[in-house]
Amino acid sequence: AQDKRESLYVLSAWAGKFFAEQLWKTEMGQVIGLNYFKERGYTEDIIKKFELGYSPEEWTALVDKAQVAGFHADYLAASGLAIERDDKSLYDRFRGRVMFPIHNLTGRIIGFGGRTLKTDKKIAKYVNSPESEIYHKSDVLYGLNFAKKAIMEEDNCYLVEGYADVLSVHQAGVENVVSSSGTSLTTGQIKLISRFTKNVTILYDGDEAGIKASLRGTDMLLEEGLNVKVLLFPDGNDPDSYVQKFGAAAFKDYVKSKQQDFIFYKTNILLRDANDDPIKRAEVIRDVVESIALIPDEIKVSVFIRECSSLLDIEERILLAELNKIRLNRARKA
Ligand code: CTP
Ligand code: MN
Ligand code: MN
Ligand code: MN
Ligand code: MN
Repeated sequence: AQDKRESLYVLSAWAGKFFAEQLWKTEMGQVIGLNYFKERGYTEDIIKKFELGYSPEEWTALVDKAQVAGFHADYLAASGLAIERDDKSLYDRFRGRVMFPIHNLTGRIIGFGGRTLKTDKKIAKYVNSPESEIYHKSDVLYGLNFAKKAIMEEDNCYLVEGYADVLSVHQAGVENVVSSSGTSLTTGQIKLISRFTKNVTILYDGDEAGIKASLRGTDMLLEEGLNVKVLLFPDGNDPDSYVQKFGAAAFKDYVKSKQQDFIFYKTNILLRDANDDPIKRAEVIRDVVESIALIPDEIKVSVFIRECSSLLDIEERILLAELNKIRLNRARKA
């Protein structure tokens, strides 16, 4: 099994080189892929650092070359780089896409994300490597290998939604940034972050999906004892589009001035949706106290209870009573 994993690492590294060569050294790669990255505002340095690439718009470009290089069909299929047809023949998973290699903590390539260059809404924007013996999506944060040093130095980790966000934010000089690649956070990813810092700032897209995601994965961060701040980007922007449009300085200012503690962020978002409906307001209060009740640090809990009491315009002792009720229920269930 160790041999098989090692072979998959070697194949992934080879594929990373293949895609990068296609990007830099072929006409199609340069005209289509490299131009695309440059038009998005990426510098050659960042394109090289993140080992970005291009997959040719052909059925077996990678498969053919890999087999000539001596890679076995079994491994090509196991890595997810190739897909097996019913007749056992193989074709490339990634075709005509710009390629983002996904690295593990030590910087080895373990998988890929490929973005289409087409605007057709029926085509999946991103195709990703499937799970394999070396790629467990739920245990990986995109960009962590490039970010870990800065995360420790800054004692903070920025969490964004996508590949492009990591690249643009990193390029802007904010290197403590990782992405959960569009899915909600897993406990594995949270444990990974907490090895490097206890402070997380969530920078999600300013769309409905971003708001939902910011409320979803976050309770787990609180339970893990992390300090969580959140901010959303304005009307349809994500960190990538914001920093590319307005520049690094404006991005840093925006983050600094707009980040909010998660509990206050959640309270405000829910209150906004509840308007003045008293029943909805009661639900908001319960929902917010549910989150506060997850925080393991009693001092923080009492600070949040006090602040939320004024935000929600409700007496502290009522929030405390609710808190105790929730804790009692949880203790019973556990
Ligand atoms: N994603 C995915 N498959 C999709 C759509 C999204 O895996 N069909 C993941 C990708 O990791 C993507 C992230 O979710 O980076 C966020 O999605 P989205 O905001 O839609 O894409 P962006 O990262 O903003 O991509 P771009 O700026 O290139 O349009
Ligand atoms: Mn494993
Ligand atoms: Mn989005
Ligand atoms: Mn984007
Ligand atoms: Mn986005």
